[in-house]
Amino acid sequence: MCGIIGYVGKERAVPIILNGLEKLEYRGYDSCGILIISDKKSFIFKKVGKVKELAEEIKDKKIDGNLGVGHTRWATHGGVDEKNTHPHFDCENKIFVVHNGIIENFFELKKDLENKNHKFNSDTDTEVLAHLIEEYLKEMQFKEAVLKALKQIKGTYAFLIGSLEKPNFLIGARKSSPLILGLGENEIFLASDPTPLLKYTNKFIFLDDYDVVFIEDGEFEIYSLLLNKTKEPKIEEINWNVTEVSTSDYEHYMLKEIKEEPRAILQTVAPRVNFLKKEIEFEELEKSKDKLKKIEKVVFVGCGTAYYAGLYGKYLFEDILNLQVDAEISSELRYRNYPFNSKTLLIVISQSGETIDTIEALKKAKEKKVFSLGIINVPGSSLTRLVDVNLLTFAGPELAVASTKALLAQMTVIVLLALYLAKNKKTALPIEKIIYEFKDLPLKIEEILRRENEIEKIAEKIKKFNNFYFLGRKFEYVTALEGALKLKEIAYLHAEAYPAGEMKHGPIALVDENFATIFINPYNSLFEKTKSNLEEIKARKGNVILISDKEENDVFAFFKIPTTIEIFYPFLTIPVLHLLAYFTAKKLGREIDRPRNLAKSVTVE
Ligand code: G6P
Repeated sequence: MCGIIGYVGKERAVPIILNGLEKLEYRGYDSCGILIISDKKSFIFKKVGKVKELAEEIKDKKIDGNLGVGHTRWATHGGVDEKNTHPHFDCENKIFVVHNGIIENFFELKKDLENKNHKFNSDTDTEVLAHLIEEYLKEMQFKEAVLKALKQIKGTYAFLIGSLEKPNFLIGARKSSPLILGLGENEIFLASDPTPLLKYTNKFIFLDDYDVVFIEDGEFEIYSLLLNKTKEPKIEEINWNVTEVSTSDYEHYMLKEIKEEPRAILQTVAPRVNFLKKEIEFEELEKSKDKLKKIEKVVFVGCGTAYYAGLYGKYLFEDILNLQVDAEISSELRYRNYPFNSKTLLIVISQSGETIDTIEALKKAKEKKVFSLGIINVPGSSLTRLVDVNLLTFAGPELAVASTKALLAQMTVIVLLALYLAKNKKTALPIEKIIYEFKDLPLKIEEILRRENEIEKIAEKIKKFNNFYFLGRKFEYVTALEGALKLKEIAYLHAEAYPAGEMKHGPIALVDENFATIFINPYNSLFEKTKSNLEEIKARKGNVILISDKEENDVFAFFKIPTTIEIFYPFLTIPVLHLLAYFTAKKLGREIDRPRNLAKSVTVE
């Protein structure tokens, strides 16, 4: 949600800012704007619509400034129109601001400023900051005015702030919304995440909450509003491949990312499995062994697809470890009075590491001294800095709004962690066999992905339906949830998931010849039970689409998956449903990578 990019250096800022905005598109937005400042002149362009259209408008103009900021806006306060598009200015049109987040006390601040004769041009919360700085400038210098103004702001923010009169000066500030600093050769970048900067640098500083960075004449300084003093910067490297942030030869990021699912698993497994010793090694957990031994309860928490990974974790941990396990939705958990204690292990799951509800749920749990692990994909993101220990997923950057390969990587860490915690414990599961199966799993997924044309044919058959059930039991209920969410998200088709056994308690009332039901029913211990539900749907003329390793001809459509051990079936069935959602959406002409109303990184509550 909202993307921010800023540049101060020796190069022309225009292509850097436009390219950056394009790379930030995946976060979700409805309008965009850029500002370029040179010694002599400044240029502002705003567009309701796509970055491509903004670039088209600018392309023939001679714009030479070396300082630029860009913003993709996902509307919160004020409609989607040009006047609300960032940057926003003070009364004199000199102080500029772009913002990601929400200023919660903007109404009071605005009223107060209006009483002091400030004239507002937009309906946004953001604009108040420019006027507040203008107000304080009457009695102090620019930097002091900015710090004083930021102290008045309640809510969340990542800001870029500057003045049209200062072509070598840019300020960044963060509280709860992401903002990072990228360090190039004689150039400094600010951005919402590393994706738009990988082309220029692998050196980053991840700003903490209440950090304000002042960039002036090629130098920077970080001031903490929390500590009331300047801070030593901590430079970190991210070695993501630049090609990973392009669609390469694929038509969509989503397809590319589904195709990368086997690699996401391999990369996540490789540093943690010793196949010779048949052992799981988590270097990250070396120092926490004693803490982990005392754990009596595990809670997984996440949003959307990351929550489903948590649900998978719950079922798996219950099978492998003799522990009480819960899987919770962050936006609910944060408001509940959950009985956390020092013997609870909280496992936080997030692709982006920036989902605000998950951040807040973690903060609340931390107040009760809970020990936390993070299963997070973006190194240096907010959550990675809040959890006690990071068990990173190595899925590489994920840019399509709908999460795909990150889920497989999250489930991989969960299996590895369960096996690690099961060491020296009695468990009925064949641990060695599970470890060994990790070798074959990516190959089996490759095989499924190679048969994409079969899935495309099923998409052609199902695209005519408007309503879908996704049914499965236990692990495959998780698959069902993920399949239904993906179809909703990118194909805009109504889809609901139920545990197959629950279908009789209400949902079946809707089933008729116009209804499609997708059964995920591998040939495992629950096969026969789910098969009965399948027959019940068929008896009511429902159209059954079956995913299984046991052949079945008498259904509307069938896809055969390879065979694996029970806990690993979701690793095979989920890629099928990812491709099914992808092809159905494509056939319906949907905008796959950036579906309407959705955002990849949900940084507002
Ligand atoms: C958004 C995305 C989902 C994602 C969820 C959680 O809703 O559209 O694909 O699963 O956020 O995101 P996270 O980055 O925390 O995994």
